[in-house]
Amino acid sequence: MTKEILIAPSILAADFARLGEEIAAIDAAGADWIHCDVMDGHFVPNISYGADVIKAIRPLTAKIFDVHLMIAPADPYLKAFAKAGADVITVHAEAGVHLDRSLQAIRALGKKAGVSLCPATPEAVIEYVIDRVDLVLVMTVNPGFGGQSFLESQFEKIRRIRSLIGDRPIRLEVDGGITRDNAAAVTAAGADTLVAGSAVFRGKSSADYAANIAAIRGAAEAGRVPKLQDVSGRPARLGETALIR
Ligand code: DX5
Ligand code: ZN
Repeated sequence: MTKEILIAPSILAADFARLGEEIAAIDAAGADWIHCDVMDGHFVPNISYGADVIKAIRPLTAKIFDVHLMIAPADPYLKAFAKAGADVITVHAEAGVHLDRSLQAIRALGKKAGVSLCPATPEAVIEYVIDRVDLVLVMTVNPGFGGQSFLESQFEKIRRIRSLIGDRPIRLEVDGGITRDNAAAVTAAGADTLVAGSAVFRGKSSADYAANIAAIRGAAEAGRVPKLQDVSGRPARLGETALIR
């Protein structure tokens, strides 16, 4: 499966007083997706914004809205986020007992289904739901806040999930502490979709954001697994084109 690298700026790092302008600025700056971090002060120790804010900014760009729900429970709110204009809805594996049911509910709403894992959660929890997901989100910080340092412990998990995904049309996203300095390493491990908050919203203008996105993208492209070979070194099967553009 050919997967181009996608950069998804997290608007958690935007100036909320000028949120509409900030959305327009990252759109013009070359963002592929708009990453929306929803926090409830219960599943994570911080509160951000909810479906009404997403609904308000939805008309400002045609880009994919990648909605990361750091809320528990998530199921009662899936419909509201779908109606607000989310394209991808990601729930945390740790946020409820019935992950399989949550993923089915997201797809039943006509949306792409994502599952996210906190740093301490092993990849085994997604083994039996892998065919229900369109995206796996590996948290590379403990969720709740922007501006934290990347956790190197997650490289091995990224590699293992890349292997688990195999040829399936599933995006492997990383989120937390992503910068131009570690973007190559995460794509080399197998990530194809990079969330970045503080590393994108540095500076003030759309031109600054464009330079930041371009730098992250350049590093990410340089690091991607180059040949018909998966990250474990297994030779490619006939017809397999994993990670090749
Ligand atoms: C953290 C959020 C992230 C965060 C990333 O809980 O899920 O999306 O905004 O911010 P940076 O890139 O600053 O770590
Ligand atoms: Zn996020």
